Amino acid sequence: MSEATRAAGQVENLTLLEKAALLTGKTVWETHDLPRHGVRSLWLADGPHGVRKQTGAADHLGIAESQPATCFPTAAAVANTWDPELAEEVGRALGAEAAAQDVDVLLGPGLNIKRSPLGGRNFEYFSEDPLLAGRLAAGYVRGIQSAGVAACPKHFAANSQELRRMASDSVVDERTLREVYLSAFGTVVTEARPRTIMSAYNRVNGTYAHENPFLLRQVLREEWGFDGAVVSDWGGSNDVVAAAAAGGTLEMPAAGLDSARQLVAAVHDRRLAEADLDARAAEVLRLVADAREPGTAPAVDAAAHHALARRVAARSAVLLKNDDAVLPLAAGTRVAVIGDFARTPRYQGAGSSAVNPTRLDSVLDLIGSSGLTMTAFAAGFRRDGTPDAALHAEAVEAARGADVALLFLGLDEIAESEGLDRSTLELHAAQTELLAAVAAVNPNTVVVLSAGGVVEMPWLASAKALVHGYLAGQAGAGGLLDVLTGAVNPAGRLAETVPVRLADTPTATTFPGRQRTAEYREGLYVGYRYYTTAGVAVTFPFGFGLSYTTFAYSDLSATADAATVTVTNTGAVAGADVVQVYVSRTTPGVHRPVRTLAGFARVELGPGESRAVTVPLGDAAFRHWDAATGAWQVEQGAWRVLAGAHVDDLPLAVDVELVGTVPARTEDVPKRYMTGDVQHVPDEDFAALLGRPVPDAAWTGPLGANDALGRMQTAPSPLARLAYRILAALRDRAERRGKPDLNILFLLNMPFRAIAKMTNGMVSAEMVDGIVRIVNGHFFSGAGATVRGFVRTRRADRATARRLRGDA
Ligand code: BGC
Repeated sequence: MSEATRAAGQVENLTLLEKAALLTGKTVWETHDLPRHGVRSLWLADGPHGVRKQTGAADHLGIAESQPATCFPTAAAVANTWDPELAEEVGRALGAEAAAQDVDVLLGPGLNIKRSPLGGRNFEYFSEDPLLAGRLAAGYVRGIQSAGVAACPKHFAANSQELRRMASDSVVDERTLREVYLSAFGTVVTEARPRTIMSAYNRVNGTYAHENPFLLRQVLREEWGFDGAVVSDWGGSNDVVAAAAAGGTLEMPAAGLDSARQLVAAVHDRRLAEADLDARAAEVLRLVADAREPGTAPAVDAAAHHALARRVAARSAVLLKNDDAVLPLAAGTRVAVIGDFARTPRYQGAGSSAVNPTRLDSVLDLIGSSGLTMTAFAAGFRRDGTPDAALHAEAVEAARGADVALLFLGLDEIAESEGLDRSTLELHAAQTELLAAVAAVNPNTVVVLSAGGVVEMPWLASAKALVHGYLAGQAGAGGLLDVLTGAVNPAGRLAETVPVRLADTPTATTFPGRQRTAEYREGLYVGYRYYTTAGVAVTFPFGFGLSYTTFAYSDLSATADAATVTVTNTGAVAGADVVQVYVSRTTPGVHRPVRTLAGFARVELGPGESRAVTVPLGDAAFRHWDAATGAWQVEQGAWRVLAGAHVDDLPLAVDVELVGTVPARTEDVPKRYMTGDVQHVPDEDFAALLGRPVPDAAWTGPLGANDALGRMQTAPSPLARLAYRILAALRDRAERRGKPDLNILFLLNMPFRAIAKMTNGMVSAEMVDGIVRIVNGHFFSGAGATVRGFVRTRRADRATARRLRGDA
């Protein structure tokens, strides 16, 4: 009997209430068990680059301690490998650790598209390009699930900003949504078959992701054939009944039994078809049936996983500049090690992904065994940017006289975090001023960056070499030293563009959306799709990365199905290249970026060695979403297939003639969407792209259950305004101290209704309505409703718990 049939059979034996209880969490990390039916609880745990299993105090923000686990490089780092097989190897290790800790569902990988370099969680995501993000995430999922643990790719979908992440509505035209924001999820679902997926916090075009029939029923289940469980993000469920009808399976964390009662009542009132409830319950039961028996997984070899984390860190580093071949550093090179990040590594980001590492290496720990001779160490600057003349002077002194100054710069903990978008792409002035001063006394200054994303680099001329290590995990220091010494020849390629200035980014005027909506006015022109189409210069293009050897490309041939190109290592040492293939339409047709990534292949080559590599293309490379026919189409006509080192260096091109599925046609779209001039899109043009009026973004009128607590700033009730002022003061105090208070940030961005979804039954939906009335200035009626709701909920909870146990 298949698990699906078994689960369907099991559903028949459950009461309505039992089925309903399966759709709502029991604790922060567990689902409801049904002991009478032999159904156990599932354990869900973060996350994307290491297991965060909390057995004591539990939170979804990475605050309380979790069991030690290997902290691998974050997704933003691993993305630079452009290597789905390596991603799968990381996934296997993550799965093995999750299994060893009896975790049934691992909450990752995260694969949202980096819409703006300011996105606070970009360090958890792979790329600005959906093909690259999708392929890498699929590798993770295959790896995780090979260990008998369900992966939970997240956050589906269009979840691109942290500001008001649980209340904001992503307003995006269907073509952009499909081509840019859904496509990577489509790859993961169809290629790697994850057993679960996490819906996003936000609304997408007016409807919350966890109850969005377009996303969950039409696209995910019907078009992609997903038959697993859709898990809400923590507190992201709005209306549990609407979710069950739309294809949202499990709301997390614990909403108490109020949700179960709502589901039962909805079936009784015929607002929810029992068949929908059954389908969702069967999805949970299938997950339980497929889960590995607790206590059966082999123990993990922590040292082996640390070694893997180091290998991956080295493979993830991107060599961005290397004038006069100052790198690699020969054994015995006398180096001055400068920068706080060499002593206290920044190796992962804050929030739910934060791992309690099994070990943590720093450059200072390992430099002695690197073969380099350290002449001095100086911290050089204060991490939080506070000027410190003494540290500065000491570092300049240390740099003088060394063969090479190794300068470890980066973003501090407050600069990027879950719950908090970045406000700038600049490094602290204390760091850039130090770089200038160090370079003035030692021209052989090598900068090593630790940051989960990109930074502006007006200082680039002062660095003779530059390595971007991203957030490289617990063994990152060793991986970076391997690259600096040439033990590993760097092969990382940027998975995102480094713009010259924040002001050059396509979303410079729109990100983040500050009121009700996040308007995706730039349409398809995200990342390199924008810079190449609009002709905007960048510091480092998408796909860029140097090596200690050089590569040449020849003999490109292409059909509609595949491109073949020969890559030659033209240098003196072995190395790996990532050959990239892009496509471009050469005749007029619907608007599209001048080129899009269509495929890539990583090749390892000895000195002088050549290899012909074939990159599959196929319809996916050329298609566009045609809203008129509601289908993917490929335009007939002439296309160009280009190959080379990165998006701006494609020396080879051949033309292919496609039969396509539709004749090429010009469309009636505002001209700016043909030219990529999308930084200042007026309402009428955005409305034309959307095919409907731009929804009102303004925050006016009385507060509702779906407004973020941050809106209490302007609430009628003085009590609510006071509550806001207290929260804001706590937030600001934490920021001044250089460490974000994730709890406070979460609260400020959280809608009122989430209070009911996250308090394990303490607060019901009825009580939330009372609270909202208080906030709107109706103290007495609101307080009355809250108290009545409290009493009613307590009583109902006791009765429901009895019925669930089967004693009533
Ligand atoms: C995050 C998710 C995470 C969940 C559980 C949420 O706040 O958005 O990515 O998996 O918490 O910790």
